[in-house]
Amino acid sequence: MTATATVTPQGTISLQTIAMPADTNWNGDIFGGWLVSQMDLAGAVAARRRAHGRITTIAIDGMVFHHPVHIGDVVTCFTTIEHIGNTSMKIRIEAWETGDPCREPVKLTDGLFTYVAIDEQGKPRLVPPEACPV
Ligand SMILES: CC(C)(COP(=O)(O)OP(=O)(O)OC[C@H]1O[C@@H](n2cnc3c(N)ncnc32)[C@H](O)[C@@H]1OP(=O)(O)O)[C@@H](O)C(=O)NCCC(=O)NCCS
Repeated sequence: MTATATVTPQGTISLQTIAMPADTNWNGDIFGGWLVSQMDLAGAVAARRRAHGRITTIAIDGMVFHHPVHIGDVVTCFTTIEHIGNTSMKIRIEAWETGDPCREPVKLTDGLFTYVAIDEQGKPRLVPPEACPV
């Protein structure tokens, strides 16, 4: 396990799911790629809402796996938008095991994901103002 900077989840819940037997690797542990995929989905939820439309992932930085995930764990992904550029958004994503309300949540991972707002042709577009356009 690695040291964690925060002891409670930071950000907004953007995704919750349960680790299933089909998500295991050859050792019977949950596959790290599955967890990164869940984090990417959580970030995409936050980025799409902020960008009012299509986005794509361009980079993942500082990805750390703090704790193993087991079958049946409830995985909750928390997102915080840390920076908005012209076309890009940097979103801090933390995954926590939150299955038992009588126990402290356990930090599983964190990473900084960058998303780019794109148009119908897949080209970067400006991230619009925060206010909803409708
Ligand atoms: C995302 C994509 C449309 C961007 O197109 P591009 O021509 O490279 O865009 P730009 O160079 O103008 O960069 C766009 C933004 O991304 C940022 N960016 C570029 N490379 C980056 C990197 N390695 N890390 C973080 N941000 C990066 C730029 O700073 C810019 O941000 P800003 O407008 O807020 O200043 C293009 O790279 C792409 O389609 N990549 C593949 C995405 C994909 O398939 N993702 C899913 C993976 S399975």
